[in-house]
Amino acid sequence: MAAIAVTRTAHPKPRPADDTLAFGNVFTDHMFLMDYHQDRGWHDPRIVPYGPFTLDPATCVLHYAQAVFDGLKAFRGQDGAVRLFRAPKHAERLNRSCERLCIPRLDPELILQSFTALVGTDQAWVPGKPGTALYIRPTVIASETFLGVHPSSSYIYFVILCPVGAYYAEGMNPVKILVTDQYVRAVQGGLGEAKTSGNYAASLYAAEEAKRQGYTQVLWLDGVHRRYIDEVGTMNIMVKIGDEIVTPPLSGTILPGVTRDSVLTLTRDWGLRVSERPIAIDEVIEASRAGTLAEMWGTGTAAVISPVGELGYKGERIVINGGRTGELTQKLYDTIVGIQYGTAPDRYGWLQEVTPAQSRAA
Ligand code: COI
Repeated sequence: MAAIAVTRTAHPKPRPADDTLAFGNVFTDHMFLMDYHQDRGWHDPRIVPYGPFTLDPATCVLHYAQAVFDGLKAFRGQDGAVRLFRAPKHAERLNRSCERLCIPRLDPELILQSFTALVGTDQAWVPGKPGTALYIRPTVIASETFLGVHPSSSYIYFVILCPVGAYYAEGMNPVKILVTDQYVRAVQGGLGEAKTSGNYAASLYAAEEAKRQGYTQVLWLDGVHRRYIDEVGTMNIMVKIGDEIVTPPLSGTILPGVTRDSVLTLTRDWGLRVSERPIAIDEVIEASRAGTLAEMWGTGTAAVISPVGELGYKGERIVINGGRTGELTQKLYDTIVGIQYGTAPDRYGWLQEVTPAQSRAA
């Protein structure tokens, strides 16, 4: 275990009431920091009071977006215990994103320690109301000051925490999604499978257009044929046609979602027919016309399981399951949330308890 120096804040902030929480606008008292330099490797892991960075205007991340992040959650169970959901899987994905962006990998154990130590320090911030959680945002940014285009020789790893409620204003009510065939998010060989800042910047224009048309998010199609379903802005996507659950394969253009993986594990264990295969938007529309389009939902750490009640495509509205949450979608939500809050058995070893003592890591 690495020694993590802890400097506690002298000015703890008031904590918002659980029922006022939205997503991503309140931050806890502390953050985790660690530096990298090519001559020293990753060094100086520490917890310090939450606060702003000072960055030189020539810091390369500000110009060329050499940055990656991840997102996971800690939950307060009904028994009061705080547990992380699938932390090692998130640490592994952060490192894969790092590799793709030419950022030096971090010690996976140290990533996990950064989560447990910081959540242990700010444990009082983990909300307890059903539907709330403490969102953990590990991030790596390139910190060298230069304007040439090449990998940075120095980086900052930081972790911040925010108590959150539902990601969508709709909560567990079905969202409306606009299928775009005008803009693309990723192509084979690009950055689609990395959790990197630029992917989110690339999504904004189409997302704003979708909002203007009354939709919550965009469903991206593949960048070559503009035909096969890829993913939604902040979620992987799944559809149930007849008795088959279909989701696009991890072929390089979509994010390897941890909730996606959890749903695949559960549905396969339940003996359902599950396919990871390319699925064309035409197949979804044909299924809707044939009456076999049963359910559609998104999966994501922030969004959890989000029912899709309507798709908009080429001026047509495709209403799914009468715009209501489907039975399987609800069962998936209840099961995953049950595991996260410790009310359903953790058969797969997805949870890891955090104790306040872990903040005294030394
Ligand atoms: C997540 O689900 O963790 C995400 O990263 C989505 C988002 C808020 C960017």
